[in-house]
Amino acid sequence: MRSLIILLLTSTLLLGWGKTGHRVIGKIAEENLSPMAKEQITLLLGHSDLARVGNWADEIKSDPQWDHSHDWHYCTIEEGQGYQGPESGGRAVQKVTEFTNLLKKGILGKKDQTDVLRFVIHLVADLHQPLHVGNGTDRGGNDVKVSWFKEETNLHRVWDSHLIDHMQYSYTEYAQQIQLGLTQEQKTNLLNPDIMSFVNESRSVHDRVYDIGDGKLSWKYVYKNQELLEDRLLKAGYHLAAILNDIYE
Ligand code: ADE
Ligand code: ZN
Ligand code: ZN
Repeated sequence: MRSLIILLLTSTLLLGWGKTGHRVIGKIAEENLSPMAKEQITLLLGHSDLARVGNWADEIKSDPQWDHSHDWHYCTIEEGQGYQGPESGGRAVQKVTEFTNLLKKGILGKKDQTDVLRFVIHLVADLHQPLHVGNGTDRGGNDVKVSWFKEETNLHRVWDSHLIDHMQYSYTEYAQQIQLGLTQEQKTNLLNPDIMSFVNESRSVHDRVYDIGDGKLSWKYVYKNQELLEDRLLKAGYHLAAILNDIYE
């Protein structure tokens, strides 16, 4: 029983953004797909949109067939260094690059294409969660124990879920709120498919993310980080759309 509880607890540690985060990002991306990308993606996903399939890569983690995908959801950039590759920990950058190239070549059968597409949709989103670009010392903040309005948790989960759930928006409401007031020019500038630029940006905000004082996080942490959270979600949506538009040019 004890080992079952430990298994259940540890199995939740590696998830990316929580369900709402992936849906918000998927919804924003969906609204910014080119007609060509939309058509090709619909051929693969049928009656699902990006918001719906965004969580698939986390849902399959409990299937032993996908055990090898567990380190695809994050990467590591050690303090004071540039990105050194998957040897530092985590294959997200490698997999997004590999999978976008595979989709561009169009050589996979339909089933593999669908799986690879669903991974791209998920992993691009994960790489915008600042703690999915870890520093190599604390498993992306999973080892940093904090409290969230008195509930015991860790810093990674605060960024995957607690901050987002605190807003109490549905995913469609949040996707809409986050995009309010954006000009066409701002939207166009956000459509950047360069992977390393958003990976480095996730890592560059760690000083703010790790500014946790005594670790008792509540209103003040929300107040200080809401803008950053929404900026990461917004950029994730647009960058994902740009990557998909680029694949299906
Ligand atoms: N395990 C090790 N590093 C991690 C990270 N940055 N995110 C999620 N899980 C991890
Ligand atoms: Zn996570
Ligand atoms: Zn993930």
